Amino acid sequence: MTLVLASQNQKKLGEMQEILSHLGVEVVLQSALGVHVDVEETGQTFAENAWLKAHAVMQETGQPAIADDSGLVVDALGGAPGIYSARYGGEDLDDVGRYRLLLRNMEGEANRACRFVCAIACCFPDGSVLTAEGICEGVVGDAPRGEGGFGYDPIFFLPELERSMAELTPMEKHNISHRGNALRQFAQKMAARAAEMKPER
Ligand code: IMP
Repeated sequence: MTLVLASQNQKKLGEMQEILSHLGVEVVLQSALGVHVDVEETGQTFAENAWLKAHAVMQETGQPAIADDSGLVVDALGGAPGIYSARYGGEDLDDVGRYRLLLRNMEGEANRACRFVCAIACCFPDGSVLTAEGICEGVVGDAPRGEGGFGYDPIFFLPELERSMAELTPMEKHNISHRGNALRQFAQKMAARAAEMKPER
């Protein structure tokens, strides 16, 4: 089976291919089919936004489509930046500007608990939907650390590892990350679906 990824992100494609190829599932970017659906993320949750993207691409291509939506949830900020993680502080800020703003908003705050969340939705032409969600718990650091990863990784501190997410290798990150966890859960659900659909001999 081939799933069309509702994203332009080559890195996401690689992560999905790595986990799903074991199931004989191929993942291709929507651009590989000449499709460029750009959906407005108007949902109120990660899951709703993932569904909006996957559903739009499934309708456009007529093929099963997969999408994810992710972000950082900080308890002391009432769950911000949450679904607005990519736009926190406005369109003019880059990744560094966004995490600096977040650090400023957390100044003097004792409760540093936060988590990365990733929701996945896969919409099939028969109307069925498979969903998965992965979480990675951490704390907001006092200052950025590390050069790896992207986004909020330098200020996302993992107390048990005594490192920030940006100090992990890609493989270490994948093994514990919200996206890795969501993808592994999704792969299990895909395997169960495939087993159900297999005709009995
Ligand atoms: P999207 O799901 O790719 O749209 O990601 C939304 C935003 O959440 C990104 O632009 C990042 O700011 C943040 N984010 C999501 N996943 C990660 C991660 O693994 N590390 C750091 N930031 C992340």
